[in-house]
Amino acid sequence: MTAKPSQSTRHRQSCIIGFMGKTIVFANQKGGVGKTTTAVNIGSYMASEGKKILLVDFDPQGNLSSSVGCSHKQDGIYEVITSKRDIKDVIMETVQENLSIVTSNLNLSGATIELVDMEGREFILRKALDSVKDQFDYILIDCPPSLGVLTLNGFVAADYVIVPLQCEFFALEGFISMLFQTVKRIQQTVNKRLKIAGIVFTMYDSRTRLSNEVIHKVKATFSTHPEILFQTIIPRNIKLTEAPSHGVPINLYDNQCVGARSYHKLALEVIERV
Ligand SMILES: Nc1ncnc2c1ncn2[C@@H]1O[C@H](COP(=O)(O)OP(=O)(O)O)[C@@H](O)[C@H]1O
Ligand SMILES: [Mg+2]
Repeated sequence: MTAKPSQSTRHRQSCIIGFMGKTIVFANQKGGVGKTTTAVNIGSYMASEGKKILLVDFDPQGNLSSSVGCSHKQDGIYEVITSKRDIKDVIMETVQENLSIVTSNLNLSGATIELVDMEGREFILRKALDSVKDQFDYILIDCPPSLGVLTLNGFVAADYVIVPLQCEFFALEGFISMLFQTVKRIQQTVNKRLKIAGIVFTMYDSRTRLSNEVIHKVKATFSTHPEILFQTIIPRNIKLTEAPSHGVPINLYDNQCVGARSYHKLALEVIERV
């Protein structure tokens, strides 16, 4: 029988071999649309597929950190971008194998002001992540609900953007066009390799006319490139709301619920695309 390598041996081996290290940012300037829920559950299902994942909580609220059972009070990404800590020293393991995180804390909300006068301020996150990129298959960055300096850093650090769109929000045209204009500006200036991986509909409720109208309207908007929409649509499911309060991703809370099955499908779609 061949002995299984220990986790530390595997980690050393992977550092030598090097991973692809693709970085995905989850962005939408509106709050409550499912950014954090999508980041944690895609990450968790990618990890269960054997991919090595680093979650980066880049929202001062720290919801991503608490969603994987980590406190958002210790040193984390704020201390990294302000050069107080090395990123390698603040990467934490989570409740799930293959799923690590750099947490966030409320100090990060002050970073918006601190970074304003800093030269090259939009490259700070990218520089920090560059040193660990080859240790992970995917790095997933969860952004706050704005298009401010933190989200800008997310866009500059990323290879791909995933945009969660809540199906219960009708006045979304202005939001979508502002978001896409921002991405376009980033592509033309500070990050030419940035691509849109796709838009994912979240909180879909087939019983409501609004959900169906939103999907219809967005599909019409992107009729010339429908591939921008992920096939998988995430339904509204109470279990997805409950899981974070237990500090676990959905696959460790209720792997069979409709929300879990949808995020599993979406994670496979993302692995295929990205
Ligand atoms: N598909 C869903 N079904 C039910 N509740 C959801 C779903 N997606 C997210 N939620 C809940 O909606 C709220 C906002 O989601 P969240 O992922 O935190 O949004 P954001 O990060 O964009 O602010 C949270 O309480 C979350 O648990
Ligand atoms: Mg969030």
